Amino acid sequence: MEVIIKETYDLMSKAAAEAVASLINSKPNAVLGLATGSTPLGLYRELARMHKSDGLDFSQVTTFNLDEYVGLTKDHPQSYHYFMHENLFKHINIPPQNVYIPSGTTTNYRAFCAWFERRIEEVGGIDLQLLGIGSDGHIAFNEPSSSLGSRTRIKTLARQTIEDNARFFDRIEDVPVYAITMGVGTILEARQILFLANGENKAAAVAAAVEGPVTSMITASALQLHPDTICYLDRPAAGKLKMIDYYEWIQAKRPGAPKTA
Ligand code: GLP
Repeated sequence: MEVIIKETYDLMSKAAAEAVASLINSKPNAVLGLATGSTPLGLYRELARMHKSDGLDFSQVTTFNLDEYVGLTKDHPQSYHYFMHENLFKHINIPPQNVYIPSGTTTNYRAFCAWFERRIEEVGGIDLQLLGIGSDGHIAFNEPSSSLGSRTRIKTLARQTIEDNARFFDRIEDVPVYAITMGVGTILEARQILFLANGENKAAAVAAAVEGPVTSMITASALQLHPDTICYLDRPAAGKLKMIDYYEWIQAKRPGAPKTA
């Protein structure tokens, strides 16, 4: 896994946004996997800016979101549908029919999950998947002990996640207990993964994911099995990495590295 450490959240967000934009410029019909949460907000702001100022074109892009709370309608302010619309989709020119987000209100979850997986396959798979990390080491809503081969399904949220996400709701009792989420196995099939984390409160989870053993107790550690994952961190999120000097050495030496492509 390549680890890129930036001094600030803004610089981290811009570097990750450049990687997304460069994919869209080289493959205008790219398929993106998108994440919610506060982590990718800066990246989405930057993509919106690039669309407005540099003409970054999303007209042929397709997107699949990682997850959604069960029971929240699309217009609920805490639903991930609403989040994506407010923070990205309404600022860019993506056709609404190219946007796929798990449904929190389907009446047949099993069939919906199977359809969602099938749609990813039918469009040729995800080219680039964005990920954040929960403080318990989860990716999407794959809580500790989730199978590393899991597919899109319903998950029961961990207490820690409910507590973490309660800040977005009026009362902790309002945080849904269930979510529909891409599985770890689904995520690992993306051709490239950009894994982002910022803030000191993520440092322990990041260290476990990047340098700890591969374990279903930290589902982000499964990214170690992925051949093309880049981890973008701000300085505080990198605070507990043991190999930090090596990661920075690699980046410093990059301009002189042998060309591999
Ligand atoms: C939720 C989402 C994850 C996200 C995590 C961290 O649990 N399902 O996809 O990575 O929150 O959120 P934040 O970026 O707000 O810390």
